[in-house]
Amino acid sequence: MNTEAIHNPLRDYRRYVIDAWAAHIAVSVGLFEALATPHKISELAAHHSWSESALRPLVRALVACGHLEESDAEVYSLSERSKALFLPTSAEYIGHALSFMRTTPAYLSYPSILKGNAAVGLDESQWSYVTRGSAIYAAAGIRTLLARLPALWTRRPLRILDVGCGQGAYLALLARALPHALLLGIDPTPRVVEDARARLTREATARVEIRHAHLGDVAGTFDVILINQIFHVTGVEVAAQMLQQARVLLAPGGHVLVQEILDDGADPSPALFGLNMRLLFDQGCALTSDELVQLIQEAGFGNVEVHPIEGPTPGLAYVSAHE
Ligand SMILES: C[S@@+](CC[C@H](N)C(=O)[O-])C[C@H]1O[C@@H](n2cnc3c(N)ncnc32)[C@H](O)[C@@H]1O
Repeated sequence: MNTEAIHNPLRDYRRYVIDAWAAHIAVSVGLFEALATPHKISELAAHHSWSESALRPLVRALVACGHLEESDAEVYSLSERSKALFLPTSAEYIGHALSFMRTTPAYLSYPSILKGNAAVGLDESQWSYVTRGSAIYAAAGIRTLLARLPALWTRRPLRILDVGCGQGAYLALLARALPHALLLGIDPTPRVVEDARARLTREATARVEIRHAHLGDVAGTFDVILINQIFHVTGVEVAAQMLQQARVLLAPGGHVLVQEILDDGADPSPALFGLNMRLLFDQGCALTSDELVQLIQEAGFGNVEVHPIEGPTPGLAYVSAHE
């Protein structure tokens, strides 16, 4: 057998995992921001009180991955691509998306989870961090919804409920795009509710209310109910229950809009995402689009449509549903 021809996936995964943790460390300590202007390693180490022997291999690994450039002997700077990806002031900033690295050492628990023990779970401050990661999908998600369902947004009144609203990023964008909308965000994690309120106060969006609540606690009628990135946390039984509750709260002609990372295509990342979700949550999963569509139909919705979201991550899509 010609062993040269055998593709060794571990070679790639090891490279990507170490690339991701190096980028995560660099984001966490502010290395990319420090290199927004070129510096020598020795200057950086002295200025930030970093160990020079620990900084050097980190910088060299980031150069090898194309995140940094060596301009002169030992003088390092950000590549143009990295300025866009790693400076928090950039619209393309992906730093928070590396939040999944915080859960990565937890994979050591998987053998015990396989034996039936509880998933790892997240505490409130981990939720606060992780929701900043999922908020990076908001701009592309809202762009897709506004383009794909134009008639929905002209309804008056337009009452929008965001279930598990996280950082309130979707609510802020919708409030800006739809000056006539009234918006309510709910989330069961108190720390996340505080984060969302702080964000929306900063953005002075008085038409948005944030409540610490579960969907079952909400009364009223809504034209749009967003359920963004919740079912991969709760699993299908709770998802089915939430869809039933959403149906009761929906105004005639209203839509439920479910965003998930769907495990359909050839790209392995949604399946790896599903593995990570099952590590974290007892019913965590990545659904296929068929599974999600079926779940929504079983809740009694007649019209279900999948809207892929271009760009941010493989498999990201909205599924819209109405009677
Ligand atoms: C991955 S984050 C998504 C946040 C936000 N929707 C977004 O897309 O950026 C999951 C959110 O679900 C919330 N959550 C957890 N269990 C929930 C449940 N049973 N019902 C509603 N939200 C829940 C968490 O507090 C967290 O804010």
